[in-house]
Amino acid sequence: MGKKVGFIGLGMMGNPMSKNLVKAGFDLTVWNRTGAKMKEILDQGAKAGTSPKDVARKSQVIITMLTGSSEVEQVVLGKDGIVEGLTTGSVLIDMSTISPEVSKALASQVTSKGFMMLDAPVSGSVGVAAAAALTIQVGGDPKVFETNRDVLAAMGKNIFHVGGNGMGCYMKLVGNAIMGANMAVLAEALCLGAKAGIATDVMIEVLRNTGGASTVMERRSPNILKGDYKAQFMLKLLFKDLGLALDSAGADTIPMPIVGLIRQIYAQAMADGKGDHDFSAVAALAEKLSGVSLKK
Ligand SMILES: NC(=O)c1ccc[n+]([C@@H]2O[C@H](COP(=O)([O-])OP(=O)(O)OC[C@H]3O[C@@H](n4cnc5c(N)ncnc54)[C@H](OP(=O)(O)O)[C@@H]3O)[C@@H](O)[C@H]2O)c1
Repeated sequence: MGKKVGFIGLGMMGNPMSKNLVKAGFDLTVWNRTGAKMKEILDQGAKAGTSPKDVARKSQVIITMLTGSSEVEQVVLGKDGIVEGLTTGSVLIDMSTISPEVSKALASQVTSKGFMMLDAPVSGSVGVAAAAALTIQVGGDPKVFETNRDVLAAMGKNIFHVGGNGMGCYMKLVGNAIMGANMAVLAEALCLGAKAGIATDVMIEVLRNTGGASTVMERRSPNILKGDYKAQFMLKLLFKDLGLALDSAGADTIPMPIVGLIRQIYAQAMADGKGDHDFSAVAALAEKLSGVSLKK
């Protein structure tokens, strides 16, 4: 058996990521707030923890993959939280997308108690996670990173150490700001072409050969063509991340007018009931506003 690893947060991303840890031979203990979501991974050989504290007590490396900053703070520092169960030499790796400032503050609390922490948020959605091909951006002590590269390598393909604690979180916000803007402008530009009478699949094929091509177009155009917005990455989570980017930018006086604008577009989509849909549902909003269909 490999290292003892704990995994907390078996949501859309945590599910495939934890399965890859079992496949790679790690001795995995898991916990999820909604207990029913643990069944699949337990069937594949993981053990059940009774609380975040219990998972921490049984693991050398504890991974969290939770919604956002307050959920991570609660699970790490709250009653029966991770900090209560950490043992000598334990490392906490938070892979959620959270505020860099909150992540840095958590790291200083964890390290002041004699433990270690990395922030290691991921890029790539559910399918990429299932293929163990996530891009992982890591902040924290480089030695702690190197010692735990094996755990990250079970879930990701491209793994980068970008700086000290909190820097992985900053890097993740840079990426999601660009991805969110790409998706929003792709949606409204496709509507321009559709209204003029060009079929969406033709536009995608042309764009693929132009400067308008993007990874987000490659990954999300199949959904747009089908009009299928079942969530892989919920729109409300991207809205959260754009807010985190603006908060950090505000604190550092970095103007980000484009991110401010697109966050309002995603807010409109949430007001239109699309918060739990995939973030590409911003295309469904653009269709509605411009009176066209992008479906093939
Ligand atoms: N989906 C993607 O494509 C994607 C890609 C990159 C990064 N991310 C980031 O990865 C993180 C997880 O995203 P996801 O898509 O997996 O979301 P998700 O399916 O909603 O999963 C969220 C997880 O957090 C748990 N949780 C929420 N509030 C909690 C609380 N108060 N106490 C304990 N557990 C709590 C949930 O437990 P329950 O099951 O009990 O609700 C669930 O396990 C987010 O930070 C997201 O921004 C997502």
